Amino acid sequence: MRLDKFLCETLGVTRREATILLRRGEVTVDDKVIKVASVQVTEASQVVWQERRLPMPGPRYFMLHKPDGFVCSHEDSSNPTAFVLLDEIKMDKLHFAGRLDVDTTGLVLITDDGQWSHKITSPKHKCEKTYRVWLEDAIGDDYIEQLTSGIQLRSEKELTLPAKMEVIDASQNELLLTISEGKYHQVKRMFAALGNKVERLHRESIGTIVLDNDLEPGTYRRLTAEEIASIS
Ligand code: URA
Repeated sequence: MRLDKFLCETLGVTRREATILLRRGEVTVDDKVIKVASVQVTEASQVVWQERRLPMPGPRYFMLHKPDGFVCSHEDSSNPTAFVLLDEIKMDKLHFAGRLDVDTTGLVLITDDGQWSHKITSPKHKCEKTYRVWLEDAIGDDYIEQLTSGIQLRSEKELTLPAKMEVIDASQNELLLTISEGKYHQVKRMFAALGNKVERLHRESIGTIVLDNDLEPGTYRRLTAEEIASIS
């Protein structure tokens, strides 16, 4: 692909603006300043502008370890948006493939590919999400049975779809819950319906994409080709 076309698509600039950036010597390819628009770049080329390596044009997919206190929206009047944790170009094109509450931590997927995120969020696709849950009160003996049969949430017509629960540490009221829907505050509402209260909530996985242990809260990375393809 020509370098000027590459810049147009990655930076969202016009052909003329791309030519100006090049003439000013603002762009390097493989550590050399390149001013010629017709130079060919490939997947392997390191194109850098303003100290940032520019990715090949195309859809982008990231996993973020969301810390407590950040919201999954572009704007919020009281809390910072989790987007401030990303250092990427064309941020306005990115969206969250399924949100977490401000006080929920863990795996958040971010993309500019609407069809891909639809497969995660649409009820039709029943994409599984696993949460680590810490409850205020003891885990009831009947929880597994009730969660498997479906829970009646307030102001919902249908029971929740069968969910899977695994006790991790009964002394800490800690468990793993896997659900295949994403209703508003669903996990908190499910345990509220069981007469308990979620004290802490952390998302560990979406489908087979597992939050990377190496990602500290507030950090992110690109998804691998395999992770992207796992959402189908
Ligand atoms: N369920 C909730 O209640 N909150 C979340 O953030 C995610 C799932």
